Amino acid sequence: MDTLRRGRGLEKQPGEKLPGEYFRYKGIPFPVGLYSSESISIAENACDVRDDDIFIVTYPKSGTTWMIEILSLILRDGDASWVRSVPIWERAPWCETIMGAFSLPDQSSPRLMSSHLPIQLFTKAFFSSKAKVIYLSRNPRDVVVSLYHYSKIAGQLKDPGTPDQFLWDFLNGEVQFGSWFDHIKGWIRMQGKENFLFITYEELQQDLRGSVQRVCEFLGRSLGEEALDSVVAHSAFGAMKANTMSNYTLLPSSLLDHSHGAFLRKGVSGDWKNHFTVAQSEAFDRVYRERVQGLPAFPWDEAPEGTSPSPDPDQDPETPHP
Ligand code: A3P
Repeated sequence: MDTLRRGRGLEKQPGEKLPGEYFRYKGIPFPVGLYSSESISIAENACDVRDDDIFIVTYPKSGTTWMIEILSLILRDGDASWVRSVPIWERAPWCETIMGAFSLPDQSSPRLMSSHLPIQLFTKAFFSSKAKVIYLSRNPRDVVVSLYHYSKIAGQLKDPGTPDQFLWDFLNGEVQFGSWFDHIKGWIRMQGKENFLFITYEELQQDLRGSVQRVCEFLGRSLGEEALDSVVAHSAFGAMKANTMSNYTLLPSSLLDHSHGAFLRKGVSGDWKNHFTVAQSEAFDRVYRERVQGLPAFPWDEAPEGTSPSPDPDQDPETPHP
């Protein structure tokens, strides 16, 4: 029905979310429109890599935008004129998007690039280079909540359906870029290599200044106190939300329905507790425990007391099995 309407060129009505369509590339689902088999294949096989390239790699909704802003500021020694004048997607093009794959060669060094690709699809040339990857991860419970809201406003994404349906799609890897578990398992194998930094959204939240310093050390850059202050100030949630070059309000409403939500939504850790029912939380934990076996402990694994979701009598406690 929706395909039919779009085929006839009928426009999306305000507040109406048409389902996106996904295609698979080597088994991983990608939204049609932003990505194509050709663009992913270019990122995977035909992308040249320079030794001073810096890649930000994330599973979607893990704080990519935040890290791009931090890096944009670090690379300009805290000078905010770049982040205030150039859209974020031009500062750190997405390797695998149709737009990004063809624009990478034109970037000046050191190039900043973003990618959501799982390691098995990532730019092959990287693995024999000295280029750096910063892998930013986030509590998958917050990722699923953020992705659920984003799916409602992002034109290329499928309608998320009910929270229960979406939770199981996420746990089963039936979302764009596939399974969160497979993504992190693949990339974390790089830990210990000197051109790989693993850092979490939660660490940025807890100590932004310390995290910026860690990133600087990894990049071999030292910033003075004033520059460091500027990076921290301009990458704060409020500053980014107010910056049209970073808050994605420049995107057309066909890509982001600004009237029904913001890309920079809440910017906090632990929002899942406001959304998960007890049954959903328990079901998530069961799958999580099984799927992260063998992985190191993450900041979100240390759950202090009082972090359980509150029972929600309006929600159906019966959670479908994946
Ligand atoms: P929420 O939806 O939970 O608010 P990505 O850039 O990978 O798509 O991730 C988007 C998530 O990172 C959103 O999470 C967004 O609000 C959050 N984010 C972006 N910039 C941030 C900042 N400066 N501080 C805190 N969170 C930020």
